[in-house]
Amino acid sequence: MALDKNVKVLVIGAGAMGAGIAHVAALAGHPVYLYDTRAEAIDKGLGGIAKDLDFLVSKGKLDSAAREATMARLTAVTDLDAASDAGLAIEAIVENLDIKQKLFLQLESLLGDEAILASNTSSLSITAMAAVLARPERLAGLHFFNPAPRMKLVEIVSGLATDRAVANTLYATAKAWGKVAVHAKSTPGFIVNRVARPFYAEALRVLNECAAEPATIDAAMRECCGFPMGPFELMDLIGHDVNYAVTRSVFDAYFGDKRFTPSLIQYDLVLAGRLGRKSGRGFYAYGADVAKPAA
Ligand code: NAI
Repeated sequence: MALDKNVKVLVIGAGAMGAGIAHVAALAGHPVYLYDTRAEAIDKGLGGIAKDLDFLVSKGKLDSAAREATMARLTAVTDLDAASDAGLAIEAIVENLDIKQKLFLQLESLLGDEAILASNTSSLSITAMAAVLARPERLAGLHFFNPAPRMKLVEIVSGLATDRAVANTLYATAKAWGKVAVHAKSTPGFIVNRVARPFYAEALRVLNECAAEPATIDAAMRECCGFPMGPFELMDLIGHDVNYAVTRSVFDAYFGDKRFTPSLIQYDLVLAGRLGRKSGRGFYAYGADVAKPAA
């Protein structure tokens, strides 16, 4: 059964994914706490949600009263203790196992016994994430895609210890939030990020061989293969720090399987801080919402 709409949802990390998940949960009727270690990230996240809701209103897909009610259900918190009555905590912080484990240990002692703990990780092991907890059975993956309000799919990821009832509750809740939910076991990259790895990796190899420029490869994949975005546009949207970390974790998890070898071209972008749309530059340069090939 889906979580009752009165259940408070705590979203940790107000970046691209956390803000989107907070938007989805609040629009579905839940009171939502949005937390980040950086206050400016919360402000930016809430501003982005307001803008997205305004867009829905302008398209006639949401009325103004529902927009106001959704915004009123969102509460910014700069101290996790203020969210101790949450019944579902979803983390969308940096893709790093150690940091996520520390956060879940903190949440385990803060939240009530019935609270469900969920991770939006793209690739890290849910089994490993839960292993440090006293009650690992209440942690599962709840993996949204970018942008969370628009992308329908949500992967419900079970680690070795995840209680099936917890996974089923998340599955039903994601459906109640208007999503298409699928169950997956915790293997590196789960379903989508595993199957999509070669999409990015081969495109980066084509670039490395100087066969074609990113814009040409993107156009070819859009026009001929029907992808809504080419691989370079998509990596810029996802963020190179995130996309590189996912490839790296899948590569490591498969004991260095060459098929998943990270790209030095992408690693260079990360080192340079050219993270894609969020930093204004990646394979493309972003100004006034217009993407053009970066010099
Ligand atoms: P992001 O870089 O946009 O946002 C991460 C936010 O977490 C930042 O605002 C940062 O200040 C905050 N943060 C970092 N450590 C924290 C901590 N210990 N406590 C509280 N806040 C903390 O990253 P993004 O793209 O939103 O990714 C977040 C998670 O979602 C990652 O695990 C990523 O793999 C996953 N994900 C990302 C997707 C994407 O397309 N970007 C798609 C699906 C999942």
